[in-house]
Amino acid sequence: MTEQTRVALVTGGIGGIGTALCERLAKDGYKVVANCHPSEAEAATAWRAARAAEGLDIDTIAADVSSAEDCARMATEIKERHGPVSILVNCAGITRDRTFRKMEQAQWEAVINVNLNSVYNVTRPLWEDMLAQGFGRIVNIASVNGQRGQFGQANYSAAKAGMHGFTMALAQEGAAKGVTVNTVSPGYVETAMTLAMDDKVRDSIISGIPMRRMGTPAEIAAAVAFLVAAENGYVTGINLSVNGGLFIH
Ligand code: CAA
Repeated sequence: MTEQTRVALVTGGIGGIGTALCERLAKDGYKVVANCHPSEAEAATAWRAARAAEGLDIDTIAADVSSAEDCARMATEIKERHGPVSILVNCAGITRDRTFRKMEQAQWEAVINVNLNSVYNVTRPLWEDMLAQGFGRIVNIASVNGQRGQFGQANYSAAKAGMHGFTMALAQEGAAKGVTVNTVSPGYVETAMTLAMDDKVRDSIISGIPMRRMGTPAEIAAAVAFLVAAENGYVTGINLSVNGGLFIH
């Protein structure tokens, strides 16, 4: 199988970073499927048309990544449409920022379900096919705030740190079978998620970034493109920071 025919699934594929990931992987010649939440199905139709206008033929599929059943259905549908998935980017994620003293159980659970339980739900039904193909690339999009913690993000930091634990364990299970599993930890990136922060909080965060700017979604996509390339089969279990120097470790 060549890179040209490999199928790539990007969860949260129509979001800020997800869109850049889909565009980059499509330009690199993969057959890309962008997952979105069922509530975004209409937006996904417009998103797909916009990509087609750029000459990129990207499929979309709605599924709730916090539901194991829905992810099993998504895996079956993608296989029927395009064949087995070789490349998976777990990018779907949300924030519910609150100081811990104000954080309600619902805000804790929403973030753990969408950001962390999703990696089990999405990856599990695709895993056997990767092993059977003797080739697979999984990239989990975590965050600088999973590496260093962030005031107001006990839920998000826990979920993102957990994603990398998953990466390190699964990397060992895939290593002898041609399946690599890596994490990319973006810093603050220009998307709707960071725009949702209070202006003052955002400005103070940017002033603390050594590069004095947020990252772009394309800069995250470039890191992912490196990790999924067939020639990079000897890189597994890493946490690749793309954060403008915000956290150097
Ligand atoms: N360190 C110490 N104290 C801080 C602080 C910090 N970084 N930030 C705020 N505080 C203080 C405030 O001064 C205030 O103090 P007082 O109570 O003494 O006045 C208190 O903490 C905040 O109290 P609030 O009642 O305002 O807190 P809140 O529960 O309403 O939430 C918050 C505040 C929404 C969490 C806000 O602090 C915030 O937005 N923080 C940034 C969170 C963040 O970085 N989110 C990233 C979103 S983007 C993303 O997640 C992508 C990615 O991967 C990077």
